[in-house]
Amino acid sequence: MISAKNSLPGASPIDGPKGRVLWDRADRVLPGGGIYLSRSARFAGDGVLPGFIADAEGCRVTDVDGKQYLDFVCANGPNLLGYGHSGVKQAYLQQARRPASSNFYSPLLVELAEVLVDRYAGMDWAVLAKTGSEVLTLAGRVARKATGRPLIVAFDQAYHGSDAELSPWPAPGVPATRRDHVIRVPWNDVKALRTVADQHEGQIAALLLNSLDQNAFQPTFFAEPGFIAAIEEIRTRHGAALILDDVRQGFRLHPEGSHRALGLVPDLLCLGKGLGNGYSVSALLGSDALRDGARGIMFTSSLHFEQPPMRAAMATLDAYDNECAFEKMTRAGLRLREGLLAAARATGHSIDCSGPPTMPTLLFENDPDRSRVVGFAREAARRGAIFHPALNWFICAAHDDSAIDEALEIARDAMGATPTAGV
Ligand SMILES: Cc1ncc(COP(=O)(O)O)c(C=O)c1O
Repeated sequence: MISAKNSLPGASPIDGPKGRVLWDRADRVLPGGGIYLSRSARFAGDGVLPGFIADAEGCRVTDVDGKQYLDFVCANGPNLLGYGHSGVKQAYLQQARRPASSNFYSPLLVELAEVLVDRYAGMDWAVLAKTGSEVLTLAGRVARKATGRPLIVAFDQAYHGSDAELSPWPAPGVPATRRDHVIRVPWNDVKALRTVADQHEGQIAALLLNSLDQNAFQPTFFAEPGFIAAIEEIRTRHGAALILDDVRQGFRLHPEGSHRALGLVPDLLCLGKGLGNGYSVSALLGSDALRDGARGIMFTSSLHFEQPPMRAAMATLDAYDNECAFEKMTRAGLRLREGLLAAARATGHSIDCSGPPTMPTLLFENDPDRSRVVGFAREAARRGAIFHPALNWFICAAHDDSAIDEALEIARDAMGATPTAGV
């Protein structure tokens, strides 16, 4: 078992010699040192988080220089049950002894689709793929084809994958018109949503939403009941499909889909990230009403039928249920939040810990230039815990009591080393 205790707590810099050499090499051979945005440690600021992870187990990662960390990024979500979860790993490896891909269907493709359709109420069919981005793009196409309408209404900043049309980030290299058919409105703004719906009567193919407003550099906002009621009403009145992007929040808000926490049943449900506990598998699920919309769309890739990730997904779902992963993550997240608030009080900080227990977002009050949250993350990483300063964190089922205790000790010390507001 890897331990996060390092011999020089508080003293070791982020990125040792091997990490620094790898950054130099990356800058030579990866454009811009890597164009992966939030998947690069540089997204957090230079020298805040370790750049290169060599190994991982449970809720702990080891960087290329051998320094160990408690990890609250969890691969930005895919680490749901713990890195290297034995049941999932064994299922994957067992399947990997057979050919990984072929040009024709495997029984597993049907079996996993059946498991997913059985699991999610209201869902009647599934398309399997590799990434969340792919199934989000497909969901938009299915809704447009089914309704014969061009527009998708989404919400400000919400990330819906790397397809330039659905990504909220600037999209250099893409004609500006590529985004003309996606309208974004502010989260929880019922008036703006109604206005857009009325202005585009008969043109809206789908409403596309995450179950939380959870974007970089901001607190997490839950959906207000009036907002959900308006979505439901507009969807019905306008005959628009409802697409729920559960790629990030899936498995962490409700075991049967985060729409259950919202009281909605979507027409199209996108899953990814945690579905394979780190192995590449995603799924678009849909209701019967949208089945014809999905027919006849050319959506294929030579590697979509790779079987070991599908087997990993089956094992992930079994273990998630059998090991009460949701309850474990919720408990760990609640303990973490309480401890962080106590640590802040003890060190003279005022923090904002928003979001559900399983996906907290930590920000410091009176921190307009974000120096406090970034400083805290740097101090914590030096001491052996990765707390992202710009993105929401993820709890996994391997964050047990001792991991949370250890993390809180580190957080207290890191807050103690972070200047308070007004200093
Ligand atoms: C809400 C949301 N939707 C879609 C995606 C895209 O998924 P993927 O990275 O698997 O392509 C992400 C990834 O971060 C996400 O957070």
